[in-house]
Amino acid sequence: MGCCNRLQWWQEARYGMFIHWGVYSIPARGEWVMFQEHIPPQEYAPLAKKFNPKRFNPDEWVELAKSAGMKYMVLTTRHHDGFSLFDSQVSDFTASKTAAGRDLIREYVEACHRGGMRVGFYYSLLDWRYPGYFRGPANDPEGWKALVDYVHAQVRELMSNYGKVDILWYDGGWPYTAEDWRSEELNAMVRQLQPEILINNRSQLPEDFDTPEQHVRASERPWEACLTLNDSWGYNAADDNWKTPQQVLKLLVRCATGGGNLLLNVGPKPDGTIPRQSVSTLRRVGRWLEENGGAIYGTDRSPFGGTSTGMTTLLGSTLYLHVTRWPGKELTVPRILSKVRSVHMLQSGKPVEFTQNGDRLMLKGLPRRAPDRLDTVLVVELEGESRVLNYFESPDYFAEWTPPAQAKAVAEPLAMEPPVIMAEEPAAAEESESVPYSEEEPVATEEAEDAETAGDNEEAAPSEDAAK
Ligand code: GLC
Repeated sequence: MGCCNRLQWWQEARYGMFIHWGVYSIPARGEWVMFQEHIPPQEYAPLAKKFNPKRFNPDEWVELAKSAGMKYMVLTTRHHDGFSLFDSQVSDFTASKTAAGRDLIREYVEACHRGGMRVGFYYSLLDWRYPGYFRGPANDPEGWKALVDYVHAQVRELMSNYGKVDILWYDGGWPYTAEDWRSEELNAMVRQLQPEILINNRSQLPEDFDTPEQHVRASERPWEACLTLNDSWGYNAADDNWKTPQQVLKLLVRCATGGGNLLLNVGPKPDGTIPRQSVSTLRRVGRWLEENGGAIYGTDRSPFGGTSTGMTTLLGSTLYLHVTRWPGKELTVPRILSKVRSVHMLQSGKPVEFTQNGDRLMLKGLPRRAPDRLDTVLVVELEGESRVLNYFESPDYFAEWTPPAQAKAVAEPLAMEPPVIMAEEPAAAEESESVPYSEEEPVATEEAEDAETAGDNEEAAPSEDAAK
């Protein structure tokens, strides 16, 4: 890839905090409220007169992210509604020129730098206050140019005025192209000003990493799944569909299994405080990470995927079993071709008795009840490189087994029809780009469910990669 040193810290980090915050936190119906309720810009603008976050203390945000075990933060510098949390020469709709009278991005960056936290900027290319956005470059070339010039100017400000920025997280490029946004030129400028920066794939160019949203799906390229803690990005007072700490942890483990990151969102209230429910869930998972972080941070993609009891992560020749469905005293892990040197429980260090039977690793003498309700990690030390039995590879036991179809063919050899040659599945190309690893239940969000009913289910059938 040639890029990997720049990405290394981020890939080792595995877990970051996403923050959606702006004037939309006042109506408290999510960050799309302006669009969804068709609020005209002139009616929306006065929200800025009320946006004065007295209790905003970015050091507290950084402290929370740290105690949650998160290694970087990404804050909305400007969302689709056009309100900039930073001071901008090209906009008056900013925190510093309205009630707050402060450059909230500067305060956030300074707190991150003080706390040794990596800094990310979310930035929406689109701005709903610009008619040119809705009309598009073909119908309104001048209006479009005004929007794109403003976007380029703001990105330049963000990249110039705040010292080192680690991540630029674009959004809202749709439905226009990289040419329309002049994204190549934009990102060249970004990289010139911030040579180490990581850029996501939402300026309609692939850049450094992919960003599956509200679901976990591994890709061959570096990737980061972003998910909400309830069902909203921006603060939504009526949304109490909170994920539990175990759901959050399972998401994080699934990401690590597939070699990806989790960017987990919080939506602060208008006063700058983060909802209590989010805080307690984040801290709970953080406590687990304090003891078990070795099974998450810096891990590689695990070819062992998931089993009946939970997911696996891999670091070199150490395989971590994340047992989220504790089976009792015995546990079997299939498809391990490497010789196992030892097995122990991560938290207590206690050794675990084991035997290897073909590709099955069988563990015995485990506690009857899960030692850790969230996720008990068992550490399997493999000899040499990890070797996995792939989905379509025949296990040893087939040597001893007469399959039913074969028995029938011997009895009635002439009854067989010549095989029909099928045309190639059109979906094959799409499929082969994804990396199969998941055996877990799907992520509990509507988008994930939609994706799965649309035939996007990683669990149902292995992709072609598994057959290799
Ligand atoms: C979407 C939404 C947006 C949210 C983002 C996070 O693109 O438009 O509101 O910021 O996803 O990934």
